[in-house]
Amino acid sequence: MKKPRHVISLKDFTAEEIKEILAKAAEIKANPEKYAETLKDKTLIMLFQKSSTRTRLSFEAGMTRLGGHGIFLDQKTSQFALTDFSDEIKAVLRFGDILMFRAMQAADVEKAAEVSHIPVIDACSEKYHPCQTLGDLLTMSEDAGGLDKIEKVAWLGIQNNVSNTLKLACSKLGIEVSIIAPEVNEASVDEELNKIADKTGLVKETLDLKEGLEGVRYVHTDTWMDMEYFEDGKVKDEFKDVYKKRKELFKPYQLNAKLLEDNCPEAKVMHCMPCHVGYEISRDAIDHSNSLIFDQAENRMHAQNGLMVWLMEQMKK
Ligand code: CP
Repeated sequence: MKKPRHVISLKDFTAEEIKEILAKAAEIKANPEKYAETLKDKTLIMLFQKSSTRTRLSFEAGMTRLGGHGIFLDQKTSQFALTDFSDEIKAVLRFGDILMFRAMQAADVEKAAEVSHIPVIDACSEKYHPCQTLGDLLTMSEDAGGLDKIEKVAWLGIQNNVSNTLKLACSKLGIEVSIIAPEVNEASVDEELNKIADKTGLVKETLDLKEGLEGVRYVHTDTWMDMEYFEDGKVKDEFKDVYKKRKELFKPYQLNAKLLEDNCPEAKVMHCMPCHVGYEISRDAIDHSNSLIFDQAENRMHAQNGLMVWLMEQMKK
């Protein structure tokens, strides 16, 4: 049986493969009727250990568009809490053609991939968010008129799972990446990924806004606060201190209209969402004429459709 490709960190993907996936995404987006039965009789299992709006919707709607079916499974309403993860995941894998897994830990995605006969996709762990990166690249490519026209992007705020995969893929594709972040989310650190990105010579870190944003065409940011800090929309007691500390530390790096005007007035506003308005991004940036954030949200689906079709094609090769 053909060994599946797994999509965990994008470390093992070449620039050519990333371009192939994005070209497929663009082709499917432009010709939806042509691909309406491409994944007919295929099942995507969507396993969530954390909450989601975009990831769930984009994968499920994407499968509908491609003629397949998505099954949503979460921690609360499945039996994962009652048993050994390794056994339960082996059973889950018997029912689908692709597994997308939003896991608390990337190690569990790796564990699933090790025993899997079908492609496994990391749908946002503490270390990686490859689908977000593919959607972001598709959005920037559409806006710029081609991947090769994206010269420089900036990441503002905290270095985390989203910045990891964005930095890695952009640098592999020859795009300059400017990181303006006073702190790294410790749980997200992957030294191997950092080495691969650094080796390109395209990643620069600075805390100087003027220097970091010079010549930047796309400014990305993400929440300064981790998903784990919240329950029912409120900050959990044990995270109240770190929440307060981060709010002060990151304040100068908020993505807002004045920051754009002062440093890079032509740059586009990018946010993977959900937005914490008034924290990492202001209302005037979300609603700015340069904002691409809702295109970014929609492009999660188109990018993932390209990815799922590509993964199924790899199984046949
Ligand atoms: N950007 C993103 O992954 O959104 P969700 O957490 O809503 O899925």
